[in-house]
Amino acid sequence: MAATFYITTPIYYVNDVPHIGHAYTTIAADVLARYHRLRGDDTFFLTGLDEHGQKVQQAAGKAGIDPQAYCDGMVPRFQDIWKRLTISNNAFIRTSQPRHKEVVQKLLQQLFDKDLIYRADYTGWYCTFDERFWTEKDVVDGLCPDCKRPVDRLSESNYFFRMGRYQDRLIAHIQAHPDYIRPRSRCNEVLGFLQNPLEDLSISRPKARLSWGIELPFDRNYVTYVWFDALVNYYSALEYLVPTPSVERYWPATLHLVGKDILTTHAVYWSTMLMALDLPLPRTIFAHGWWTVNGEKMSKSRGNVVDPNAMVDEFGADAFRYFLLREVPFGFDGDFSRVALIGRTNSDLANGLGNLLSRTLTMIERYAEGRIPAEEETTNVEVDNLLQQEARGLPGVMNIHLGNLDFHRALEAIWSLVQIGNQYIDKTAPWVLARKPENKARLNTVLYRAAEALRFISLYLYPFMPQTAEEVKRQLGLTVNFAKPALAGDIDGTITWGGLLPGTEITKGNWLFPRIDTTTAQGGPRVTHEQQPTTPSMPSTQPAAAPVSAEAAPPAAPQITPATPQITIEDFQKIQLKVARVLTAERIPRSDKLLKLQVDLGGEQRQIVAGIGKKYEPEALVGRRVVIVANLKPAKLMGVESQGMVLAAGDKEVGGLVTILEDVELGTKVK
Ligand code: MSP
Repeated sequence: MAATFYITTPIYYVNDVPHIGHAYTTIAADVLARYHRLRGDDTFFLTGLDEHGQKVQQAAGKAGIDPQAYCDGMVPRFQDIWKRLTISNNAFIRTSQPRHKEVVQKLLQQLFDKDLIYRADYTGWYCTFDERFWTEKDVVDGLCPDCKRPVDRLSESNYFFRMGRYQDRLIAHIQAHPDYIRPRSRCNEVLGFLQNPLEDLSISRPKARLSWGIELPFDRNYVTYVWFDALVNYYSALEYLVPTPSVERYWPATLHLVGKDILTTHAVYWSTMLMALDLPLPRTIFAHGWWTVNGEKMSKSRGNVVDPNAMVDEFGADAFRYFLLREVPFGFDGDFSRVALIGRTNSDLANGLGNLLSRTLTMIERYAEGRIPAEEETTNVEVDNLLQQEARGLPGVMNIHLGNLDFHRALEAIWSLVQIGNQYIDKTAPWVLARKPENKARLNTVLYRAAEALRFISLYLYPFMPQTAEEVKRQLGLTVNFAKPALAGDIDGTITWGGLLPGTEITKGNWLFPRIDTTTAQGGPRVTHEQQPTTPSMPSTQPAAAPVSAEAAPPAAPQITPATPQITIEDFQKIQLKVARVLTAERIPRSDKLLKLQVDLGGEQRQIVAGIGKKYEPEALVGRRVVIVANLKPAKLMGVESQGMVLAAGDKEVGGLVTILEDVELGTKVK
């Protein structure tokens, strides 16, 4: 059922350039916004910039320009990267906008009039970096408990918000609304924090110390504390950043996404501010974890800050989006590394999804004249049932996982369908069906079903990887408009199997994801377009005699005959056998028996030329586990380097590949 969905990201301090942390929350919010729009919900997605406060004033001072000009100059950095990451925010708020200031002043005045803001002298420890006071018990060894920088003793007359007054009400609200602060562990942290007396909050800064802020409406000598100003953005945007004021339409917010470090300001300051203003509280505040980089804290001084622009340049927005939400459960801390991103891109995107699309469309081109064939059979075959069940179950599964902000599970569910789709093709072997005209009905059915599974995939992929979903849609010839609520009702529960129209012309395009070559030693892995699997060639009709492997092709290949002398265990141990998985397979031009394989040895990729092309069509090998000789001296076969040998049974003819039954890790030794 359609509902309103109002989602926010934190507003980012304008004195920093966008990094992976900013991108993470914003991408997560974008996925949810797109998903809710797809469901037909009235969605409002807000992000923006936090422009006031000491940090910005200092940064502007350093740059020798006025703070407003400094902020104006920084804004495009954020807006540009959000565009590149295909962020679909409905509005972009800047706290230096006059209308925002008006709302902040209006609310301050309301609280002042209700005597919920009062003036008092205060002596405490002040942390300039965090722009806040700490009490004696908070400070450890003269350092700020938060950022660990030295604090200064400061006596000041300031204005205070009677936050402490709301302590019991806040505890009661959190306890009565288990979804208010999530995940559960963070909720418990907040409840723990609230076991100590909640003090009133200093919401002013004397202008003498800080001028870059919103002036208190009741005392011109002060500006308001940057957090009071910033938190109000979630509300003020609804008064002026929408075509018509929409407080009634969208408030309370459905979801504030924040990082774990700023949970207290949201769960305690913002909640009590809203209580004091008699405004309803948001439905959920969700705190996600932090990224480290190659196991280390990310920081400018370490020089390891992950720049989302560089990620988009190198991997594309969708691969980066996919990685961030697939790699780590939302709510947990995670570690970012290029190696992990490359691993996922190669295995899940290139090998899984890219391969499914490419082989399905190639076969439709070859066996169905480039048009979606009709599902001519109503079969009750196990593989077909499995595929359909998995696809039909997807809408419900997505609903549950995205409702819980379990992005990684939602992606796992989509990829389970990708995997089942690939297995479906392996098992039904359309290239074998195509050999006999009497199999035409079955062939058409299989091709239809593979394509229909891809339609389901594209729909649910859209929130996560909008550009990829559009490309799948284009290649499949679909006409659906993902961004339009016309899908409402279609997607939730009623999306039915069989929606793909037979006769639709497909447009096979480029590979969705270029495989990244991990073997390039110098300069690290690089994206290469050379190693894409080619389209499957027309299947040969008869398997004929073929040497087994790359090694068997050269004339010098040893022949194992009964007369072969016995070897010692030490001799055998010289041969390094390992489990590998075929990533791609393609025919070597002008050879009917040689296939070029890329195999994954568990973090290491190898190219192997194998003489199995008369027994196997390349597309039937992708994803298979094989055993390879890993320490064979590289050799060139028809000009193509082979870095190992695949084991197969058979003497003159290939009987079958040696595989491994259990799901052992790639690279495991075989002895
Ligand atoms: N301006 C405040 C928010 C005000 S919201 C009313 C602010 N801005 S920030 O730019 O410093 O941080 C924004 C967000 O980036 C926070 O949610 C923070 O958790 C997140 N991250 C900063 N570094 C991060 C990582 N290394 N990993 C994940 N997120 C991180 O705070």
